[in-house]
Amino acid sequence: MPSLNDVRSTFLNYFAKQDHEIVSASPLIPHNDPTLMFVNSGMVQFKNLFTGVENRGYKRATTSQKCVRAGGKHNDLDNVGYTARHHTFFEMLGNFSFGDYFKEDAIPFAWELLTKEFGLNKDKLLVTVYHTDDEAAKIWKKVAGLSEDKIIRIDTNDNFWMMGTTGPCGPCTEIFYDHGDHIWGGPPGSPEEDGDRFIEIWNLVFMQNEKFEDGRMIDLENQSIDTGMGLERIGALLQGKHDNYDTDLMRSLIETSADFSDGAPDGPGKMHHRVIADHLRSSSFLMADGVMPSNDGRGYVLRRIMRRAMRHAHLLGVKDPLMHRLVPALINKMGAAYPELRQAQSLIEETLRLEEKRFTQTLERGLMLLDDELDTLDEGADLSGKAAFKLYDTYGFPLDLTQDALREKGRSVDVEGFDAAMSEQKAKARAAWSGTGEAADAAIWFDIADRHGATEFLGYDTEKAEAQCLAIIKDGGEVSAAAKGDTVQIVVNQTPFYAESGGQVGDTGQMSGEDLSSRITDTKKVAGVFVHFAEITQGKLEVGTSILLKLDHGRRVNIKANHSATHLLHEALRRAL
Ligand code: ALA
Repeated sequence: MPSLNDVRSTFLNYFAKQDHEIVSASPLIPHNDPTLMFVNSGMVQFKNLFTGVENRGYKRATTSQKCVRAGGKHNDLDNVGYTARHHTFFEMLGNFSFGDYFKEDAIPFAWELLTKEFGLNKDKLLVTVYHTDDEAAKIWKKVAGLSEDKIIRIDTNDNFWMMGTTGPCGPCTEIFYDHGDHIWGGPPGSPEEDGDRFIEIWNLVFMQNEKFEDGRMIDLENQSIDTGMGLERIGALLQGKHDNYDTDLMRSLIETSADFSDGAPDGPGKMHHRVIADHLRSSSFLMADGVMPSNDGRGYVLRRIMRRAMRHAHLLGVKDPLMHRLVPALINKMGAAYPELRQAQSLIEETLRLEEKRFTQTLERGLMLLDDELDTLDEGADLSGKAAFKLYDTYGFPLDLTQDALREKGRSVDVEGFDAAMSEQKAKARAAWSGTGEAADAAIWFDIADRHGATEFLGYDTEKAEAQCLAIIKDGGEVSAAAKGDTVQIVVNQTPFYAESGGQVGDTGQMSGEDLSSRITDTKKVAGVFVHFAEITQGKLEVGTSILLKLDHGRRVNIKANHSATHLLHEALRRAL
């Protein structure tokens, strides 16, 4: 029985034999796509190769891409633990052609890999194609000898793949596996398609279009290929399992979770072990890529995942922090394929331990409050938004954790009431803050932080990143655009620039765009917002556009060295005096 590690290498080696470059997975934080919270498919790191903006030394590539779907458009967090195939973290296997081969090769590659290398029974396979794609249907017939009823035409967006609202896209063909008529479900396109009998295993996208903000869609100069196959899914199939959580890798994490808790991986706590196994993976991989738990943005998604796992550990009756003790088991299974995990092991363990220690101090009291509240409610009534907000504000319960806890009791939360309580608190904080006599114009940063949240700092692992311009401030007021000769302050959603906030001085560097060139002369942090001081030397900048930020490398290196030297000097002085 092939392990998931075997399946991953078989896939990569097969495409290496077909002249594909084996490319490492990109970090989970997309540096080249500011509109995306986490990398959620294999093609993200290649986006600019499809559109022709970027060129690399290869025209064919294959990857096993780590993906997280726990925030933004694709959010699977709420379902994890309750279903056979939902994960917050998963690996996507893919092969890519950048203006090299197209459908007539992509389909035979997929068919050969599935039926020869993986040895799947071809009678169990069927495919879908986009309803107008006669060409793909013809290739399938020729290559796989599939009968007409096994080439299903779909006229919905299910067979037209788009990364988001904009970007490279195209029609796709999906390969399904029929698990047999003893399982309920119908073929794709039928009313019973959501059943478990026919499971999609591979998506081949024929990248030939690009969509823009204004709704326009053009033909790309090059026809390319992007494919995606979930490792956990194909692994389950090859291991004769119907549930991804029964694969060797997930199973070993589940068993480790049980070893450290109730000792029963398949006992009454089964669901908790599944949640813990999944969340251990997403949390650890996110931390290895530089995300730290916080109250905003990506860091808050991480905190929600961690706390959800920690509550499930608590439900297993575990008293001491559990999650950090499971990290060696994860590294044992995945550290060879993803060395960054091993490098970050102590950081991951320590962060998990501290977060769990802190959270368990309030978890029990929060759960007691929740029970008290529920006692006062009529049967089936929702928990008030005010109570959910108190759990959030006082006990550190993210909203989805409260919802998860209530789901088991068949209740929900008044989300509107929760949002209202949150807005009320923000308004109060703001009123209190503006009364402190701080410079009145600082209110603008508070306003921006309110609307957009804190800026995401990427500077621990990159000196260059794409970002989205969120606000431009000129002469103390917000404007929608700035042009050559303007001296302005700029706020973006993510940045590699270190911002001064009392200690180390801020970075300087360049900011560029399609029709823009600008010098960043300083970066400072106000209310969690990174303020880039910019002089526009060429073109113009508009709010909402994408820009490339690149910091002055030499200066940063010197600042870092000086900063470290200051710490060393302080320590030496402390010891000597
Ligand atoms: N990018 C395609 C997907 O995610 C392959 O399904």
